[in-house]
Amino acid sequence: MSQSSAPPLGPEPGVRPGPGTEADAASGTAHAKAILVGEHSVVYGRPAVALPLGQLTVTARIRRVDGPASLRNDGASLPIDRLPERFASIGVAARAALDFFGLPGEGVEIDVANEIPAGAGLGASAAVAHAVVEALRAHADAELSDTERFELVQTAERTAHGNPSGLDALATRTELPLLFQARRTTPLPPSAPLWFTIADTGVRSSTKQAVAHIAQFVEGRPLRAQTVLDRLGELALRAAGDLRAARTAELGARMDEAQTALDELGAGHPMIDRLTAAARAAGAHGAKLTGAGRGGCVIALAGDAAHARELLAAMRAAGAVSGELVRIGDAAEAGA
Ligand code: MEV
Repeated sequence: MSQSSAPPLGPEPGVRPGPGTEADAASGTAHAKAILVGEHSVVYGRPAVALPLGQLTVTARIRRVDGPASLRNDGASLPIDRLPERFASIGVAARAALDFFGLPGEGVEIDVANEIPAGAGLGASAAVAHAVVEALRAHADAELSDTERFELVQTAERTAHGNPSGLDALATRTELPLLFQARRTTPLPPSAPLWFTIADTGVRSSTKQAVAHIAQFVEGRPLRAQTVLDRLGELALRAAGDLRAARTAELGARMDEAQTALDELGAGHPMIDRLTAAARAAGAHGAKLTGAGRGGCVIALAGDAAHARELLAAMRAAGAVSGELVRIGDAAEAGA
């Protein structure tokens, strides 16, 4: 998988179309992510590995309009400061970006086209925030450092997640798998392509609630929790090395062990058990939940493209509502 965020579309230099025309629409894009190992433990400072899912994208477009800054949804225009709960983090991202770029709180309408299912553990909230921030940056024709961009997205993520680790904000704009450790990222281009299957349980799950649920375990059983979180951190570091070296058997074993640890923390769900069991029965090297869990998606490691399709068929037969085949590493990245 090679594709990631596209460069912003802005007007051609010297060309200034009139207000309200599509031709001057600034836009921003971002994509989904999957956490390979380290969800939840990353909230407690342990390392984690994430993959970009470049085929699931979100694009935000800005239109010049009369009236307050607003979000277009289902044919209606809703002021960003009065959005319903499910869009609250989009409103926060838009408000933070407007303020940052010194734009007035009026005259723009944000249209978001999102392919990433919400509540599926694939980073929809961070990706949407990125797209909105980037579209408003392009609209303002302003500069934005990586740190400033990250902080703007994190502002929105605090509304969506409560206590975000920052991993989603980073993984929804990266082109390569990454190791997130001590608030720093290291790209992990694999030495050979790897194939994964992502399957959706169809069970929607709130990241905020899942994080709060795991916090209860951490507070209730602090000693055991530290052992499990430490082990997840070790698994993430080992998975980073296995991913880089394309060691599928070892990587799959880390994924399976991570699933056991996440189950103990309370991130499991019967549908996750069904899909991981189906994937393993179909020969997956490893399978686990990805993202916040308690529903959402499962990620399984396949041997090749055909095997990835077989894993998807097996998980669909077990009840998955949809799925994606994901190739990580391409010819250009292999051996890099
Ligand atoms: C959610 O995609 C990942 C979690 O680890 C939360 C976070 O990192 O902020 C569950």
